[in-house]
Amino acid sequence: MSHFVIRGGNRLEGEAGIQGAKNSVLPILAATLLTADQVELRGCPRLRDVDASIRILEGLGCTARWEEENTLTVDARGLSGCAVPEALMREMRSSAIFLGAILARCGQAELSYPGGCELGPRPIDLHLSGLRDLGAEIDDAGGVLHCKAPRLQGREIVLSFPSVGATENLMLAACGASGVTTIAGAAQEPEIVDLQRFLTACGARVSGAGTSTVSVEGGRPLHGCTYMIMPDRIVAATYLCAAASAGGEIVLRRAREEHLSTVTAALREAGCSIRSGEEGLACVCRGRLKAVRPVRTAPYPGFPTDAQAILMAALLKCRGAAVFEENMFSSRYRHVDELGRMGADIRVSGRTAVVTGVEHLHGAPVRCTDLRGGAALCVAALAAEGETEVSETGHIDRGYEDIARDLRALGAEIVRAGD
Ligand code: EPZ
Repeated sequence: MSHFVIRGGNRLEGEAGIQGAKNSVLPILAATLLTADQVELRGCPRLRDVDASIRILEGLGCTARWEEENTLTVDARGLSGCAVPEALMREMRSSAIFLGAILARCGQAELSYPGGCELGPRPIDLHLSGLRDLGAEIDDAGGVLHCKAPRLQGREIVLSFPSVGATENLMLAACGASGVTTIAGAAQEPEIVDLQRFLTACGARVSGAGTSTVSVEGGRPLHGCTYMIMPDRIVAATYLCAAASAGGEIVLRRAREEHLSTVTAALREAGCSIRSGEEGLACVCRGRLKAVRPVRTAPYPGFPTDAQAILMAALLKCRGAAVFEENMFSSRYRHVDELGRMGADIRVSGRTAVVTGVEHLHGAPVRCTDLRGGAALCVAALAAEGETEVSETGHIDRGYEDIARDLRALGAEIVRAGD
């Protein structure tokens, strides 16, 4: 497995473009199953999770082809199966998102339970109860989901928690249901809005995404489309935190502040100046950062759990102490011990982590524990004296097209070795 070698101490200067959003393209790839026409996805990031989704689509009899760097065409005309093999389900936990679309198109589906992941248990009870509300019969004995839905019937569904994946799964299943489905208590993330935009471009009648109630008028035949994936707000947040960590002045093209305003608010409170304009986001960070008010992760529009580790990494040398509360996943502090090897002072108790700013961080050999925890190690290494070797970078490649390329474009000393 490859590793990064990062030499800290450089201020960041420069510009980088922001890739398409992983958490938007994955449900959209599942949504391509809903039409027998060809779909062209532009701004599609080249990620391990996208590769895994392509393998799932091909396993179902679809074709997917890279036309140029970031344009992927998918053709689900040849859809011939309704089962996703265990190996593929295990490779990517979010492959549960295919269930709703397969049911909508085929009337049946067979998927094994998605594995847990590095963040703790990842139940899908909200997905399954919503699909049962729409009329699916689901036998989930023995770790394999046997689903039958000869006729999905639209109705009101109430989510007891605004699950992103459950909202997306139910939107896709509802496209294949007759009548209107309303999803109350829906997740409001920008990626849900992007999915609605994609489905609308295919001729679906979907409204309300971005609010807590999404409505779908099902049963309409969907056609193909050409669609530009939205920019990845967590990748943009990562590079803003990199500039905050190392100091410097950067511009992130395509980044849109309205999607990550809780992160930019925290960085401004810490002393960074951030300006958003046509070209994207400009960020200037000088001097030692100040500690910020407690950061509590929450469903959108709250502070995104995916940015918790990367903001923590940026604040390791802040003046004072910063408190984090991780409310979305039960095991999302696994990066803390690795940051401690670089000299960070972080105390974890249950859902709370207290970061006390230190004067210095030093390079050390560290290991990625998960996608965003791995990105946090890179952010911290930029502010460390000496060299840091970040191993098991496959975790990072799941969500970042090429973090080394992007950070180098911003002036960081980072190389990928050992491939
Ligand atoms: C999506 O995961 C994202 N992944 C995650 O990003 C992100 O952290 C998460 O939303 C929260 O914003 C993708 O979009 C591919 P949830 P998802 O369902 O859909 C519990 C990254 O780093 N829950 O909103 O799995 C669940 O256990 C990844 O890019 C149930 O209890 O998130 C968790 O505690 C990590 N039952 C909470 O809800 C269910 O049926 C949030 O989960 C579903 C979820």
